[in-house]
Amino acid sequence: MKSAKPYIEEHKQRFIDELIELLKIPSISADSAYKKDVLSTADAIKESLEKAGCDSVELCETPGYPIVYGEKIIDPSLPTVLVYGHYDVQPPDPLDLWNSPPFDPVIEKTELHPDGAIFARGACDDKGQMYMHVKAMEYMTKTDQLPCNVKFMIEGEEEVGSPSLEWFVTRNQDKLANDVILISDTGMIAKDVPSITTGLRGLSYVEVEVTGPNRDLHSGLYGGAVANPINVLTKMIASLHDENKHITIPGFYDTVEELSTEERAKMAEAPFDKEAYKKALDIDDVYGEEGFTTNERNSIRPTLDVNGIWGGYIGEGAKTVIPSKAFAKISMRLVPHQNWRKITELFKSHFESIAPKGVRVKVKPHHGGEAYVTPIDNTAYQAASKAYEDTFGKTPIPQRSGGSIPIVALFEKELKSKTILMGFGLDSDAIHSPNEHFGIWNYLKGIETIPQFYHHFTKMS
Ligand code: BES
Ligand code: MN
Ligand code: MN
Repeated sequence: MKSAKPYIEEHKQRFIDELIELLKIPSISADSAYKKDVLSTADAIKESLEKAGCDSVELCETPGYPIVYGEKIIDPSLPTVLVYGHYDVQPPDPLDLWNSPPFDPVIEKTELHPDGAIFARGACDDKGQMYMHVKAMEYMTKTDQLPCNVKFMIEGEEEVGSPSLEWFVTRNQDKLANDVILISDTGMIAKDVPSITTGLRGLSYVEVEVTGPNRDLHSGLYGGAVANPINVLTKMIASLHDENKHITIPGFYDTVEELSTEERAKMAEAPFDKEAYKKALDIDDVYGEEGFTTNERNSIRPTLDVNGIWGGYIGEGAKTVIPSKAFAKISMRLVPHQNWRKITELFKSHFESIAPKGVRVKVKPHHGGEAYVTPIDNTAYQAASKAYEDTFGKTPIPQRSGGSIPIVALFEKELKSKTILMGFGLDSDAIHSPNEHFGIWNYLKGIETIPQFYHHFTKMS
């Protein structure tokens, strides 16, 4: 495969402009007010895949948002790469913390992105990274270099837990048959430290509701005499970690995969600058489970975090009230061998068991998924590693990430194939946060690296 660099150089402006157009559509899957926008994003992806050289592209209906499926089969005897990505994005809130409107993309230079970065919701997660694959496909077909078969499966519900994808995958196993799944929806260590994500954490997401009295009460007349659901809920939540920041749910760690001393030593070789980490987050120290490093805490260890908590009076001024209800959304990041349904059960029974008299507790499971670890001694990983060597001039470091793409474990189960996670984002790209961005350099580097993967994978298969 020839280097894609000259082609990218020639079409660079158009590649950027096309991504910007895509980023203008607010495809927020969590909010039904944006339904039309989510649907029109699917149409736009379909059109872009057709233009990039797919032979057939369709919008596959599901109980939720459609999945864009496209393929180009050049020879059934050659390997098939299945590209997965998502066209939906997270809600942009809090809006007032954005320096420019989230769906009005702008290019700004930053310290880490001196060539400029595109600021918009979805720039990195995942429209920008998904679109690298569309442009890599364009390059390979327009220059007659596509070495194998390609299938694209781009969904619109990833940010809400992919509720329809299992439905789709289990019904379309033949259509989706492949030799490797390729995803760009993660990050890399740094622009000069390429890495390949070899692990994702699982997830169990729940919502809890604590109910005290049947209505909000005067906090003077009733205060002290009835349970205050917010007081109770915060105490219950606080009790979920002990002083060593271990999670106290009985059985929570029973199946947790323990890494060997060698594996942990290998992990510790990845560059990590604690001072820079603290500075970037404006914190005076890191925090977490005793006995583990920061990189271990956020990748190979399970966690429990409150994502949101509410109840009572939060308007202007003061209102003296004992609320009837208090709520929280809680996520647990899981590691290999923890079954998310089992963990959800353990959480539910523990949380119900620690509720004091005077309140009622409801636990509502949202969604979840298993962790995933990809082997590094197989053809697919080796091919990816070679691709980075071609374009970065360095061997990438395998690194387990703390994020979750729950569908990856399901792919392995249903489609029997391994996933390669070639992420080109940086941790500082602010995915899910205000001012999300994606470096133009990263975007173009991804487009350059992906075709090399196809080349090596086909040759080595
Ligand atoms: N692309 C992210 C996951 C990710 C980001 C993994 C960076 C590794 C590095 C994905 O879109 C995401 O946000 N996943 C959710 C879970 C999902 C079920 C909502 C997450 O990790 O919170
Ligand atoms: Mn994503
Ligand atoms: Mn995301």
